[in-house]
Amino acid sequence: MKTETIIGGIEQIGLAGQIIREGGLVAFPTETVYGLGADAFNEEAVRAIFTAKGRPQDNPLIVHIACAEDATKVAAEVPETALRLFEKFSPGPLTVVMKKRPELPDATTAGLQTVGIRIPNHPLALALIRESGRAIAAPSANSSGRVSPTEALHVYEDMNGKIPLILDGGKTSVGIESTVLDITKPVPVILRPGAVTADMLAEVLGKVVNHKGEVIVAEAPGMKYRHYAPVCPCDAAKTAEAACALYDASDAANKVIIGGQSFMKACGDRKIMDIGATPEECTSNLFSALRKAEKENDYIVIQYFTEEGGYASLNNRITKAAGGKIV
Ligand code: TXA
Ligand code: MG
Repeated sequence: MKTETIIGGIEQIGLAGQIIREGGLVAFPTETVYGLGADAFNEEAVRAIFTAKGRPQDNPLIVHIACAEDATKVAAEVPETALRLFEKFSPGPLTVVMKKRPELPDATTAGLQTVGIRIPNHPLALALIRESGRAIAAPSANSSGRVSPTEALHVYEDMNGKIPLILDGGKTSVGIESTVLDITKPVPVILRPGAVTADMLAEVLGKVVNHKGEVIVAEAPGMKYRHYAPVCPCDAAKTAEAACALYDASDAANKVIIGGQSFMKACGDRKIMDIGATPEECTSNLFSALRKAEKENDYIVIQYFTEEGGYASLNNRITKAAGGKIV
């Protein structure tokens, strides 16, 4: 038997919170699109989302929280980068992917060890999270494969009879889904573009890989530009030790360290590209090495040379390739 879905506003918030706590589903507005929410830690409730949407099980859900401090309830560790991003863009249309807590069910993250966390900028969404006292897993509230809902009526069309309650907050303001940013990579990667743009993120992060795989760099605060940089993430390191640490920390399938001859000797059996023993040799080989490296690798570490002895111009180009990040 089909039960008619209730559509209500803030006056239904008590009921909405109760439904979530008891393992039910509530559709709610956010500033991007409407979400179909359940307690992120209740595996059965999360499975019910997939059933209601007809969503493939291998597509992870975003977990919604009300404030940055609550990220620790969902993420195993909340990197400083995440806090800076939340500070600047939250509440707002940005989802940050980081390592998940082991207790978060596989159903929520589709078996991934990471979780996308977002603080929505909508009073009803925030009220629902607070009232329920739960972190809320929510995909867009459409049937899988259909257009995301930007009005309560759209949700009703897809979900009537499948869920008990839709909170109606009118038309959503942003209208497309949040930007999804993975910060578990050496250079953060935009998995889905949205209203928080690559340029906006680069200003906070220094460097970000956009959804087309291009590295977007901010040189100075407020000055964003694109320039030649390898198509894969590239970092610079002043010491062989630092270069090896970056290399070892990267989970890229193919990676390489580029540098001068003596630097290369200190890199052990890691994959290297030796560009020469003198400033002249290194300068003449730099760009061809970068082009070769980016074709064969997903991550590049490059030596930042000592400023003495004719390496200044070389370092200038290396700084650009690495987008200003030098360790
Ligand atoms: O604006 C939005 O993000 C809306 C509102 C309701 O918050 N939600 C939304 O959810 O669009 P959904 O499920 O339709 O899209 C979530 C996207 C998917 O592309 C999914 O693959 C990605 O986020 N995603 C979620 N968790 C992820 C993870 N741990 N790693 C990589 N991608 C993830
Ligand atoms: Mg969706």
